[in-house]
Amino acid sequence: MNASTQTNLDALQQQAQVDIAAAADARAIEALRVDLLGKKGRVTDLLKQLGTMAPDARKAFGEQINRVKETLSGQLEARARAIADADLARRIASETIDVSLPGRGENAGGLHPVTRTIRRIEQIFNAMGFESVEGPEIEDDWHNFQALNIPESHPARAMQDTFYALNGARLLRTHTSPVQVRTMQARKPPIRIICPGRVYRVDFDRTHSPMFHQVEGLYVAENVGLADLKHDLQKFLSLFFERDAEAMFRPSYFPFVEPGADVHMRWGDRWLELLGCGVIHPNVLAAVGIDPERYSGYAFGMGVERLAMLRYGVDDLRLFFNNDLRFLEQFR
Ligand code: FA5
Repeated sequence: MNASTQTNLDALQQQAQVDIAAAADARAIEALRVDLLGKKGRVTDLLKQLGTMAPDARKAFGEQINRVKETLSGQLEARARAIADADLARRIASETIDVSLPGRGENAGGLHPVTRTIRRIEQIFNAMGFESVEGPEIEDDWHNFQALNIPESHPARAMQDTFYALNGARLLRTHTSPVQVRTMQARKPPIRIICPGRVYRVDFDRTHSPMFHQVEGLYVAENVGLADLKHDLQKFLSLFFERDAEAMFRPSYFPFVEPGADVHMRWGDRWLELLGCGVIHPNVLAAVGIDPERYSGYAFGMGVERLAMLRYGVDDLRLFFNNDLRFLEQFR
């Protein structure tokens, strides 16, 4: 072995030890490992020189290089572990949990005030013997208008303008009254049902929204008349508002009833219309195959948001649909 090769090995080892001690992170350690012990590393280079040496020198020097290699490899590993331990210690120190901070809390959800109102209406009517029934929101002209004694180009259609599709073959129902029609077609009297659901119109102001909810009511049997209608609605309103509700029945026109009425209640210094109602027109019974000579009935359609406005003291119906949590949270 020649002296200069020996000196190179010593110098390399000394410098490597200084570098390893100075390595600040895992990347620096890895770079050093490649530089020293990698396939083209400096220690590996020395091993390659063995081939040019005399056999005696080769054996001694080979052992020396291997010892250096093992030493450096152990030192690299130890330094890498020390860096990892220090990292972990630093993370543990900085990521402590401050148990004195106030909790974030879980926000409990709640039912929408319109949903609560629908459930309240259903509860009262179910207890009065009315069964809940549902129908489609996408209707055809016959169920929404014609069967209800509203022929094409009847002026009553103008009051219920809606959203049409397929050249008018389909429309978003403007009221829940088509569910009356479907139920009367499918069942024989006596029939006593309510139909809650979404309805649609081209409307928008403080007491009108383009999408709103109605609950339809229908009672068909022998000898059902206006007195039954008034009695049952009055009973419902006092149960709903938990007081003797001052309701105003005012004559009104709907092609599918005769006579017809609107029911209004006090709303500040105004009256607010809650529902339309009346005694079912004989033409409607005939259109669904029920004998108008034998059976009669009443029907009503109430605005759910209007009832909710009165019960909760809300002065703009559109607030129910803005999805502002500050508003909705008040009903939890
Ligand atoms: C009707 O829709 C009839 N189908 C009711 C009826 C049924 C009459 C059975 C007779 C027999 P009207 O268009 O008035 O009627 O609507 C009924 C109720 O829905 C109104 O009294 C009101 O409370 C509510 N309402 C109507 N339009 C809107 C709207 N755009 N936004 C919110 N509520 C509305």
